[in-house]
Amino acid sequence: MTLDKLRSEDNRLATEFDDSALEMDAVVDTVLSESLPPRRPVGPHGRHPKQSSPDNSIGHIHPSPVTMNAGRGTYEIDGTLFHDEIRAVPVLKDSPVILTARVDPTDPLSDSIRVYARIVGVTVDQVSTIERNSVTRQYVAARFEIVRECVPTPNGPRVQLWTPKTMGGFRVHWPHERDLELMGYPREGVELGWQRAGGSLLKYRLPTEALYRSAFVVGGMGGGKTNLISVLARSLAHKDPNNFANGIPPAVVILDAEGRDEYADLNADVSGSFRPELDSLGIPWTAVPDFAYIKVAPGEWTFRLNDITPQDTAIFPATLPSKSERAWKFGAEQYWRRAASAHRQVVAREFTSAMASAVMPLGVNSAMRNALIRAAQDTCWEVFDMPNSRPLTVTDLLVPGRVSVVDVSRLDGLDRQRAGGLALLTMFDIVKRAEPQNPCPVLLVIDEATRLVPATFAGMSGKEYSEKMGTWLADILHRGRRARYGLLVATQYPDDVLSGLADQPQTKISFTLPPKYDRWLGANFVTAAGSTLRAGGTAGLGFVHRTSRVDGDPIGAAHPATLVQFPQVR
Ligand SMILES: Nc1ncnc2c1ncn2[C@@H]1O[C@H](COP(=O)(O)OP(=O)(O)OP(=O)(O)O)[C@@H](O)[C@H]1O
Ligand SMILES: [Mg+2]
Repeated sequence: MTLDKLRSEDNRLATEFDDSALEMDAVVDTVLSESLPPRRPVGPHGRHPKQSSPDNSIGHIHPSPVTMNAGRGTYEIDGTLFHDEIRAVPVLKDSPVILTARVDPTDPLSDSIRVYARIVGVTVDQVSTIERNSVTRQYVAARFEIVRECVPTPNGPRVQLWTPKTMGGFRVHWPHERDLELMGYPREGVELGWQRAGGSLLKYRLPTEALYRSAFVVGGMGGGKTNLISVLARSLAHKDPNNFANGIPPAVVILDAEGRDEYADLNADVSGSFRPELDSLGIPWTAVPDFAYIKVAPGEWTFRLNDITPQDTAIFPATLPSKSERAWKFGAEQYWRRAASAHRQVVAREFTSAMASAVMPLGVNSAMRNALIRAAQDTCWEVFDMPNSRPLTVTDLLVPGRVSVVDVSRLDGLDRQRAGGLALLTMFDIVKRAEPQNPCPVLLVIDEATRLVPATFAGMSGKEYSEKMGTWLADILHRGRRARYGLLVATQYPDDVLSGLADQPQTKISFTLPPKYDRWLGANFVTAAGSTLRAGGTAGLGFVHRTSRVDGDPIGAAHPATLVQFPQVR
């Protein structure tokens, strides 16, 4: 609305109500299709006592048509915001608001329709003032993107995507807790951050069940991924067991290949400067009560090959071509069988030398034999059964409520670090396959995931290996849903990990990304979110989007991108 139009509208209203000497609040009531009877007590002489914002309304929308923003594919409507409610206009963009009106404007007892909208723009220089009976009210023009509505039905309120229609007069409010469902915010879950809505903070919670459907955290260098993982770990570790299915909190296992000891401080209280912020959000600042820091390295901790099944060994050597995979598995099974009949444990060094010397009658040609030998000599096997090292077993990690950091950064070279990650992934998968009813849920966090599952693997069978790994991971994710084995993968860019991996998890959290990922954001974050998402370029300003509800809503339909700010804990 232009300034002139706004002024003339105000003048029209002012003239209309001049005689009755109503205060501006009442003017607003009338503008809103006479839809909202005054809830405030009526003062002497039928006048409303002076109040700057009746019903906490912060603006209004006149009955007016809705326009389609073709570029963004969204519906938008113009309205006004009371300027005295808005102390910092620049932070308003993307703020969620709730629009309310009575279904039947003539019936004071009629139910309200509530609409969730977001402020897409505020024109700060268009301020208009009306003065009546020493009440001054200033307005600024605002544009709202309409997202969802909550309509009353005989069976109770129903939340649905907003259906295009002409909008009657609406009041504009900041959202409250009761609006969370309408906004697509989970009511339950671990607290991660907040969204500021006017004077109030809306907590952003991630339902714990959603974690077992996996999560993908993405954002450029220094975007806040590692901090977010720390917040999540603290929240999970401290959450009342009653908040988890069957009363069992997940074991959180963080794979750290970075070597910056970024997770070492989870067993300490956070520094004093962050405490008030975390307190206000319900995020614990005290040390994680059951914390283990495990360094996988010679002389410290090692994985045991005995904990892996012979079939699962085929995923470890990137050098193994798929043509030779059957022969490999056959050989591995034979070796496992022989060890079992001799009542011996499987040991990496013996296994690889058996495979390399091709002692098994595999009946393979020489090319294949060479491939098997190469795979047997792969450095990946060196993470297993390292001498003088404590074996790390699933039992050490699969403890409800325990947060373990498995630091593989001291393993020499990317291949060995990758093998460490694969060992963890496989070990949990094996347990969950063997005992699908295993009561302890697990969240395996893979920070810097491009080290473990890069978009491309170098070498002869690189492309083939990528595909194999992709299918293997997809299977794990799929099985994990039922078995409560979730993966949280964090990486800088959606395409720096295996193709498809970025799209599978149902929870996606994106920090600031370069413009070239707008398309990916747009596809995954529902509304044409790219432009929105890039708005907050500062570290730690994050954007959360849960793409699906746990009960299996179609992806995206119910939960458009949401702007959330995460607290800092480090
Ligand atoms: N929510 C936040 N609020 C304020 N500062 C933050 C927040 N999150 C992270 N930071 C700061 O930004 C810096 C980078 O954060 P963090 O290590 O979490 O990013 P990252 O995405 O993991 O980076 P990298 O890609 O390098 O691993 C840190 O100095 C951290 O203190
Ligand atoms: Mg990081």
